[in-house]
Amino acid sequence: MIILIGSQKGGCGKSTIAVNIAAALALKGKDVFLLDADPQSSSMRWAQDRLDTEINPHIPHAQASGNIHQTLKDLASKYEYVIADTAGRDSRELRTGMTVANILISPARPSQYDLDTLPHLAEVYSQAKDINPKLSGFLVLNLCPTNPVIKEVAAAQEFLSDYPEFKLASTLVYDRKAYRDSISEGKSVLEWSDAKAKHEIEALVEEIIHG
Ligand SMILES: Nc1ncnc2c1ncn2[C@@H]1O[C@H](COP(=O)(O)OP(=O)(O)OP(=O)(O)O)[C@@H](O)[C@H]1O
Ligand SMILES: [Mg+2]
Repeated sequence: MIILIGSQKGGCGKSTIAVNIAAALALKGKDVFLLDADPQSSSMRWAQDRLDTEINPHIPHAQASGNIHQTLKDLASKYEYVIADTAGRDSRELRTGMTVANILISPARPSQYDLDTLPHLAEVYSQAKDINPKLSGFLVLNLCPTNPVIKEVAAAQEFLSDYPEFKLASTLVYDRKAYRDSISEGKSVLEWSDAKAKHEIEALVEEIIHG
Protein backbone atom coordinates (compact mmCIF):
# COMPACT_ATOMS: atom_id res chain seq x y z
CA MET A 1 0.00 0.00 0.00
CA ILE A 2 1.32 3.42 -0.96
CA ILE A 3 0.47 6.32 1.33
CA LEU A 4 1.39 9.72 -0.04
CA ILE A 5 1.50 12.76 2.22
CA GLY A 6 1.07 16.00 0.36
CA SER A 7 -0.35 19.47 0.38
CA GLN A 8 0.19 22.71 -1.39
CA LYS A 9 0.88 24.50 1.85
CA GLY A 10 4.20 24.43 3.71
CA GLY A 11 4.50 23.73 7.41
CA CYS A 12 1.12 22.05 7.91
CA GLY A 13 2.67 18.89 9.34
CA LYS A 14 3.29 16.58 6.38
CA SER A 15 6.65 15.32 7.61
CA THR A 16 5.36 15.06 11.19
CA ILE A 17 2.42 12.93 10.08
CA ALA A 18 4.57 10.91 7.64
CA VAL A 19 7.15 9.86 10.22
CA ASN A 20 4.60 9.20 12.95
CA ILE A 21 2.51 6.97 10.67
CA ALA A 22 5.65 5.16 9.50
CA ALA A 23 6.70 4.54 13.11
CA ALA A 24 3.19 3.49 14.18
CA LEU A 25 3.11 0.83 11.45
CA ALA A 26 6.69 -0.30 12.07
CA LEU A 27 5.98 -0.63 15.82
CA LYS A 28 3.10 -2.94 14.92
CA GLY A 29 5.63 -5.14 13.18
CA LYS A 30 4.65 -4.05 9.66
CA ASP A 31 7.13 -3.87 6.85
CA VAL A 32 7.46 -0.12 6.19
CA PHE A 33 9.54 2.02 3.84
CA LEU A 34 9.77 5.80 4.18
CA LEU A 35 10.41 7.68 0.94
CA ASP A 36 11.34 11.33 1.29
CA ALA A 37 10.38 13.13 -1.92
CA ASP A 38 11.06 16.61 -0.51
CA PRO A 39 14.55 18.10 -1.08
CA GLN A 40 14.34 19.54 2.48
CA SER A 41 14.86 15.93 3.67
CA SER A 42 13.09 16.27 7.05
CA SER A 43 11.82 12.67 7.03
CA MET A 44 15.18 11.34 5.87
CA ARG A 45 16.97 13.10 8.70
CA TRP A 46 14.52 11.68 11.23
CA ALA A 47 14.95 8.11 9.93
CA GLN A 48 18.72 8.57 9.80
CA ASP A 49 18.73 9.86 13.41
CA ARG A 50 16.93 6.66 14.45
CA LEU A 51 19.58 4.61 12.76
CA ASP A 52 22.48 6.65 14.19
CA THR A 53 21.09 6.49 17.73
CA GLU A 54 20.01 2.85 17.39
CA ILE A 55 16.31 3.39 17.99
CA ASN A 56 14.35 0.30 17.02
CA PRO A 57 12.60 -0.51 14.84
CA HIS A 58 14.81 0.94 12.15
CA ILE A 59 12.75 2.30 9.27
CA PRO A 60 14.33 1.80 5.84
CA HIS A 61 14.33 5.06 3.93
CA ALA A 62 15.57 6.86 0.83
CA GLN A 63 15.30 10.16 -0.97
CA ALA A 64 13.70 10.58 -4.41
CA SER A 65 12.90 13.46 -6.71
CA GLY A 66 11.16 14.15 -9.99
CA ASN A 67 8.86 11.45 -11.29
CA ILE A 68 8.42 9.04 -8.36
CA HIS A 69 5.73 6.84 -9.98
CA GLN A 70 8.01 3.90 -10.79
CA THR A 71 10.03 4.23 -7.58
CA LEU A 72 6.83 3.95 -5.54
CA LYS A 73 5.60 1.03 -7.61
CA ASP A 74 8.89 -0.85 -7.16
CA LEU A 75 8.94 -0.17 -3.41
CA ALA A 76 5.31 -1.29 -3.06
CA SER A 77 6.23 -4.67 -4.57
CA LYS A 78 8.79 -5.17 -1.78
CA TYR A 79 7.20 -3.49 1.26
CA GLU A 80 3.79 -3.80 2.85
CA TYR A 81 3.55 -0.02 3.38
CA VAL A 82 5.37 2.74 1.55
CA ILE A 83 4.99 6.18 3.11
CA ALA A 84 6.02 9.06 0.85
CA ASP A 85 6.53 12.58 2.17
CA THR A 86 6.44 15.43 -0.36
CA ALA A 87 7.23 19.17 -0.37
CA GLY A 88 4.77 21.90 0.60
CA ARG A 89 3.83 22.93 -2.90
CA ASP A 90 2.34 21.62 -6.10
CA SER A 91 5.30 19.50 -7.20
CA ARG A 92 6.15 16.86 -9.75
CA GLU A 93 6.68 14.42 -6.86
CA LEU A 94 3.16 15.09 -5.54
CA ARG A 95 1.54 14.76 -8.97
CA THR A 96 3.41 11.63 -10.06
CA GLY A 97 2.98 10.10 -6.59
CA MET A 98 -0.78 10.55 -6.84
CA THR A 99 -0.86 8.53 -10.05
CA VAL A 100 0.14 5.37 -8.16
CA ALA A 101 -0.76 5.91 -4.48
CA ASN A 102 -3.62 4.17 -2.70
CA ILE A 103 -4.08 6.94 -0.16
CA LEU A 104 -3.34 10.66 -0.17
CA ILE A 105 -3.16 12.27 3.26
CA SER A 106 -3.27 16.02 3.14
CA PRO A 107 -2.77 17.73 6.49
CA ALA A 108 -4.13 21.23 6.92
CA ARG A 109 -4.10 23.64 9.80
CA PRO A 110 -7.57 24.82 10.69
CA SER A 111 -6.71 28.32 9.43
CA GLN A 112 -8.07 30.09 6.41
CA TYR A 113 -4.57 30.42 4.88
CA ASP A 114 -4.21 26.65 4.74
CA LEU A 115 -7.77 26.06 3.66
CA ASP A 116 -7.47 28.55 0.81
CA THR A 117 -5.04 26.18 -0.95
CA LEU A 118 -7.66 23.42 -1.14
CA PRO A 119 -9.39 24.33 -4.41
CA HIS A 120 -6.09 23.88 -6.25
CA LEU A 121 -5.29 20.60 -4.48
CA ALA A 122 -8.80 19.35 -5.26
CA GLU A 123 -8.18 20.05 -8.96
CA VAL A 124 -4.81 18.25 -9.00
CA TYR A 125 -6.40 15.38 -7.06
CA SER A 126 -9.29 14.95 -9.46
CA GLN A 127 -6.87 14.89 -12.43
CA ALA A 128 -4.90 12.17 -10.67
CA LYS A 129 -8.08 10.21 -9.97
CA ASP A 130 -8.76 10.10 -13.73
CA ILE A 131 -5.49 8.19 -14.11
CA ASN A 132 -5.58 6.35 -10.78
CA PRO A 133 -9.20 5.73 -9.72
CA LYS A 134 -8.17 3.72 -6.63
CA LEU A 135 -6.67 6.83 -5.00
CA SER A 136 -8.50 7.80 -1.83
CA GLY A 137 -7.91 11.30 -0.45
CA PHE A 138 -8.11 12.28 3.20
CA LEU A 139 -7.82 15.68 4.78
CA VAL A 140 -6.45 15.72 8.31
CA LEU A 141 -6.78 18.75 10.52
CA ASN A 142 -3.43 19.18 12.23
CA LEU A 143 -2.12 21.69 14.73
CA CYS A 144 -5.62 22.10 16.12
CA PRO A 145 -5.67 24.44 19.12
CA THR A 146 -6.05 22.58 22.43
CA ASN A 147 -7.84 25.63 23.87
CA PRO A 148 -11.56 24.76 23.53
CA VAL A 149 -12.47 28.44 23.41
CA ILE A 150 -10.96 28.69 19.93
CA LYS A 151 -13.59 27.59 17.44
CA GLU A 152 -11.28 27.24 14.41
CA VAL A 153 -11.84 23.50 14.07
CA ALA A 154 -15.62 23.78 13.70
CA ALA A 155 -15.17 26.57 11.13
CA ALA A 156 -12.65 24.46 9.19
CA GLN A 157 -14.91 21.39 9.25
CA GLU A 158 -17.73 23.45 7.83
CA PHE A 159 -15.49 24.84 5.09
CA LEU A 160 -14.25 21.34 4.24
CA SER A 161 -17.74 19.99 3.77
CA ASP A 162 -17.63 21.86 0.43
CA TYR A 163 -14.99 19.36 -0.76
CA PRO A 164 -16.80 16.03 -0.90
CA GLU A 165 -14.04 14.53 -3.08
CA PHE A 166 -11.92 14.29 0.07
CA LYS A 167 -12.81 12.38 3.20
CA LEU A 168 -12.29 14.51 6.27
CA ALA A 169 -10.61 12.40 8.95
CA SER A 170 -12.64 12.48 12.14
CA THR A 171 -9.39 12.10 14.08
CA LEU A 172 -8.02 15.55 14.89
CA VAL A 173 -4.32 16.08 15.51
CA TYR A 174 -3.76 18.78 18.12
CA ASP A 175 -0.90 21.20 18.59
CA ARG A 176 1.20 19.32 21.16
CA LYS A 177 4.80 19.87 22.18
CA ALA A 178 5.34 16.10 22.03
CA TYR A 179 5.22 16.19 18.21
CA ARG A 180 8.07 18.70 18.07
CA ASP A 181 10.18 17.20 20.85
CA SER A 182 9.93 13.55 19.77
CA ILE A 183 10.91 14.24 16.17
CA SER A 184 14.05 16.10 17.19
CA GLU A 185 15.22 12.86 18.86
CA GLY A 186 14.37 10.55 15.96
CA LYS A 187 11.30 9.26 17.77
CA SER A 188 7.57 9.18 17.17
CA VAL A 189 4.93 10.23 19.68
CA LEU A 190 4.31 6.50 20.20
CA GLU A 191 7.76 6.38 21.77
CA TRP A 192 7.15 9.51 23.85
CA SER A 193 5.38 10.42 27.08
CA ASP A 194 2.26 12.22 25.82
CA ALA A 195 -0.57 9.67 25.87
CA LYS A 196 -2.97 12.01 24.04
CA ALA A 197 -0.61 12.46 21.10
CA LYS A 198 0.02 8.72 21.02
CA HIS A 199 -3.72 8.01 20.88
CA GLU A 200 -4.20 10.54 18.08
CA ILE A 201 -1.70 8.83 15.83
CA GLU A 202 -3.03 5.37 16.65
CA ALA A 203 -6.57 6.56 15.88
CA LEU A 204 -5.44 8.18 12.63
CA VAL A 205 -3.75 4.98 11.44
CA GLU A 206 -6.81 2.97 12.41
CA GLU A 207 -9.20 5.33 10.65
CA ILE A 208 -7.29 5.96 7.43
CA ILE A 209 -5.13 2.91 6.85
CA HIS A 210 -6.93 0.04 8.54
CA GLY A 211 -10.38 1.57 8.33
N1 LIG B 1 0.51 18.44 15.78
C1 LIG B 1 1.58 19.19 15.99
N2 LIG B 1 1.83 19.72 17.20
C2 LIG B 1 2.91 20.51 17.42
N3 LIG B 1 3.81 20.84 16.48
C3 LIG B 1 3.61 20.35 15.24
C4 LIG B 1 2.51 19.49 14.92
N4 LIG B 1 2.59 19.18 13.60
C5 LIG B 1 3.69 19.80 13.13
N5 LIG B 1 4.30 20.50 14.10
C6 LIG B 1 5.51 21.36 13.98
O1 LIG B 1 5.24 22.30 12.94
C7 LIG B 1 6.39 22.49 12.13
C8 LIG B 1 6.07 22.10 10.69
O2 LIG B 1 5.78 20.70 10.67
P1 LIG B 1 6.33 19.79 9.48
O3 LIG B 1 7.76 20.01 9.22
O4 LIG B 1 5.89 18.40 9.78
O5 LIG B 1 5.46 20.38 8.29
P2 LIG B 1 5.60 20.12 6.74
O6 LIG B 1 4.24 20.25 6.17
O7 LIG B 1 6.33 18.85 6.50
O8 LIG B 1 6.51 21.34 6.28
P3 LIG B 1 7.17 21.55 4.84
O9 LIG B 1 6.06 21.98 3.94
O10 LIG B 1 8.20 22.61 5.08
O11 LIG B 1 7.75 20.21 4.42
C9 LIG B 1 7.49 21.65 12.75
O12 LIG B 1 8.22 22.47 13.62
C10 LIG B 1 6.73 20.59 13.53
O13 LIG B 1 7.46 20.10 14.63
MG1 LIG C 1 8.02 18.43 5.36
